[in-house]
Amino acid sequence: MSDGDPTVVVTRRWPEPVERQLRERFSSVQLNTDDTPFGADRLREALQQADVVLPTVSDRLPAEMFAGGVRTRFLGNFGVGFNHIDVDAAAAAGVVVTNTPGVLTDATADTAMTLVLMTARRAGEGEREVRDGRWTGWRPTHLLGSDVTGRTIGILGMGRIGSAVARRARFGFDMPVVYYDPNVTDPASAGVPDARGVGTVEEVLEQADVVSLHMPGGAGNSRLIDAERLARMKATAFLINTARGDIVDTGALVKALSNGTIAGAGLDVYDTEPEVPEALRALPNAVLLPHLGSATWQTRVAMGEMVLDNLTAFLEGRPPPCRVA
Ligand code: DGY
Repeated sequence: MSDGDPTVVVTRRWPEPVERQLRERFSSVQLNTDDTPFGADRLREALQQADVVLPTVSDRLPAEMFAGGVRTRFLGNFGVGFNHIDVDAAAAAGVVVTNTPGVLTDATADTAMTLVLMTARRAGEGEREVRDGRWTGWRPTHLLGSDVTGRTIGILGMGRIGSAVARRARFGFDMPVVYYDPNVTDPASAGVPDARGVGTVEEVLEQADVVSLHMPGGAGNSRLIDAERLARMKATAFLINTARGDIVDTGALVKALSNGTIAGAGLDVYDTEPEVPEALRALPNAVLLPHLGSATWQTRVAMGEMVLDNLTAFLEGRPPPCRVA
């Protein structure tokens, strides 16, 4: 690390209040004022030239980015999920990596519930109909969806966000909760004492009317929801993904939505985002959001402040509170 003021590169635009704090704190900070994605070359350059790089989920930082050594000593990810960073390679290159857990839990859980309701109640289809001028008036059989209240929600991954979704579903919509998470032995710790833990992913898929995914992306969970597992779901069930796109086999999901294996899907994340396959975009029973999980002003400011808290700790020689590598 260079002596004195560190050079800091921020890869995307941040909300103004936290960009202001960055400008006030660091004389050598590069903000991405036009907000274009960096791409591999610019990221590689940032790692070679800056002491501190503050990336987001739109930046891919695989092992090869760290091969041969980098100047960067601190990577403060603006987000909780960090499967876009090879943290082992970063650590081996002497880079400290942090993330932003907790502050985005409620916003992301709210997005999951938005998708539950939009998917079950066909809100996207209805909205497009009104906008396109195709609505012909109220009728008893128009765009009938499924009840949400009282139906069973299945949570895969009962961590912070999974638990927050479970609480919303249980106490807001009277939904019984079934979950799979080998790390959670007491559902009371998730705030839903009567949630029922089961021993396999399959049991959740078979029992739930709505399945919501809340595990990290990356190697261990890649394509966890494949054709075989989709076939275990009820034909009337909905799949909700606000976690990471690679957890679901997109080709298998398109088939399952087309042939009625499941009733619908609500997605906020995609394997190849921002590209979303045309086959998926063509399906009326898929509700598709552009990775909005944590997208509220309050949450994004809190995320920026958390990155800054971690960076401050690092620069002052204290352990960053949210260190992941
Ligand atoms: C998160 O915080 O993980 C969001 O998905 C954005 O990266």
